[in-house]
Amino acid sequence: MSTEPTQIRLVDYPEGLADDTTWTTTHDPTPELLDGQIEVDVRIVSVDPGMKGWISPWRSYIDPIRPGEVMRAFGIGPVTRSASDRHAVGDVVTGFTGVQTTAVVDARSMRPVDADLAPLELHMSVLGMTGFTGYFGMLDLGRPEPGQTVVVSAASGAVGNVAAQVARHEGARVVGIAGGAAKCAYLTDELGLDAAIDYKTGSVGDALDEACPDGIDVYFDNVGGEILDAALMRINRKARIVICGGISQYGDMTSAAGPTNYLQLISKSATMVGFTMLDYLHRIPEAVADLAERVDDGTLVHRQHVLGGIESFPEAFRMLFNGDNHGKLLIRV
Ligand SMILES: NC(=O)c1ccc[n+]([C@@H]2O[C@H](COP(=O)([O-])OP(=O)(O)OC[C@H]3O[C@@H](n4cnc5c(N)ncnc54)[C@H](OP(=O)(O)O)[C@@H]3O)[C@@H](O)[C@H]2O)c1
Repeated sequence: MSTEPTQIRLVDYPEGLADDTTWTTTHDPTPELLDGQIEVDVRIVSVDPGMKGWISPWRSYIDPIRPGEVMRAFGIGPVTRSASDRHAVGDVVTGFTGVQTTAVVDARSMRPVDADLAPLELHMSVLGMTGFTGYFGMLDLGRPEPGQTVVVSAASGAVGNVAAQVARHEGARVVGIAGGAAKCAYLTDELGLDAAIDYKTGSVGDALDEACPDGIDVYFDNVGGEILDAALMRINRKARIVICGGISQYGDMTSAAGPTNYLQLISKSATMVGFTMLDYLHRIPEAVADLAERVDDGTLVHRQHVLGGIESFPEAFRMLFNGDNHGKLLIRV
């Protein structure tokens, strides 16, 4: 494998999801450090569905990247050079490193991590942004109560599995939705959820009727579309619908289908709320402490799906949308 610096750059905004022409590989030399910058030896890159929003020409919660730029991504690794008093050489930091082997970044944009707490993979998954998203989205917005019924879509994925397990920890009855028998078996057998629904087989509505005889109190949505509509038809009074993501609609984000059954919010005095992890950046230490304890004592099951080599990025990105990843999708650089 080449040891020269390698970058994956956006060629142009894709029409649909992305294909082989969306990105290109370059081997540009690493730039000199300016005052306040650090160089990071990127060890792991996170591959996330939200990247689709960053390669669309419209601003979402963050500006898109521009054609020609290095693809934006969360990454982690040790500082190898520093022109800042924030991070010293040898410190392990995480933040937007981009999909590249070596990153020169503003030191202020990077968060130090305790590399002794857990392997780097975990700081990019259950103890990273996706873990925090499931944690705060469920606890702060879903607010499950003992005995209530909670449904989570894309439940075997990076965000969903944390959201589901957090709800279970609060004493709720938790039903996970995922694609395929293997992922559903993972939800019940390894995560200990009360029921799993394979949305690729049969009617999700019928399956929800069977798995949620008392209705739905919290629906944590990662997928949108028909599954969101099926859940809305079964909510209880004062239900909380947490819109974390809508991956089924990411192909063309300008014409995402809204929920047909939204009038249920009126008749059930229910709340539907969206959020991003940016809302909770100030509370990261709280999540790290709690989630690390649960990982340590074995009560929080987690799974990483790790690919090798930065060049695998385009294929990794596709895997998110065809469900080929099982667990937090990462690239070991
Ligand atoms: N709000 C925030 O701050 C925030 C932060 C991170 C992520 N998110 C969102 O959370 C969601 C999950 O992200 P993640 O990182 O945890 O990814 P992930 O769940 O680990 O991987 C994506 C999974 O989505 C499922 N999927 C793909 N296309 C689908 C479709 N058309 N219908 C139903 N399911 C589909 C696939 O699982 P199956 O095999 O089960 O289909 C796939 O494995 C995404 O929507 C993402 O944008 C939001």
